[in-house]
Amino acid sequence: MVDLSVNLCGINLKNPVVPASGTFGFGLELADSFDLNVLGGISLKGTTQEPRYGNPTPRVAECPGGMINSVGLQNPGIDALVGQKVPALRKVYDGCVIANISGFSVDEYRHCCSKANDCDGIDIVEVNISCPNVHNGGMAFGTSPQAAAEVTKAVKEVCTAKPVFIKLSPNVTDIVAIARACEDAGADGLTLVNTFLGMRIDIKQRKPVIANTMGGYSGRAVFPIALRMVYQVAHACKIPVMGCGGVASAADVIEMMMAGATAVQVGAENLRNPFACPEIIAALPAKLTELGIESIKDIISIV
Ligand code: SIN
Repeated sequence: MVDLSVNLCGINLKNPVVPASGTFGFGLELADSFDLNVLGGISLKGTTQEPRYGNPTPRVAECPGGMINSVGLQNPGIDALVGQKVPALRKVYDGCVIANISGFSVDEYRHCCSKANDCDGIDIVEVNISCPNVHNGGMAFGTSPQAAAEVTKAVKEVCTAKPVFIKLSPNVTDIVAIARACEDAGADGLTLVNTFLGMRIDIKQRKPVIANTMGGYSGRAVFPIALRMVYQVAHACKIPVMGCGGVASAADVIEMMMAGATAVQVGAENLRNPFACPEIIAALPAKLTELGIESIKDIISIV
């Protein structure tokens, strides 16, 4: 019997597979499709202080090996998250619930994280300083070590009861410098990477496919780059990493963990195949057995 469990900042996950924020709604949307309790954790849609309608459409563009999105943080706001979405999810799900918090100011991050900290159903607060689809917020905080540290410090002051993971952007020259700044400012863990800033042009109409011109590129094509960043950060920092970016199979999960991830988020693949996570989890024991691995936690950072 292969042991799939991992320990993330003292929280036991029955397996390391977690649907990534923005690809799995608030969880309940998928509850009629399969038993959510097979999932190690769920990272919920990025949430801001006020409800947001998001960006104008078109918001998605298909690409070889992936897709571009520019959703623009459409969400019902923090009060709906803690008052309705999480309590509803908790009626059907007993695994690790991760609130993903975004903001346009340090005060907004602090306000939302404080509410997430006070919400019983939330286990981990994931602070998104890497959304490429909004101006003056999101990624603006994740591209300088100083700004990343400022947000981390502010949210750690209010998140006294929950581990704080900072979700990093790959759209930087030195992700290790940002990761170290977050660790030094008190982060309990890191999630990486969010999407890569990209663009498509409709050559007949001579204009960008995405209404907002650019968006975040994700999908299988980014896996080797995400893996490289997970490897670099996991070897430079002591805090745990949730690896994310192009993961689409049990073998990808194993590779991410060998690179240094303690848990692994599946993103764009959920949009192509809503059953991706349960299928990956079901495939893990046989793949690990084939490799002679009895406990998945033994492979973390093995490379
Ligand atoms: C979005 O809502 O635009 C995507 C969120 C993100 O990339 O962080």
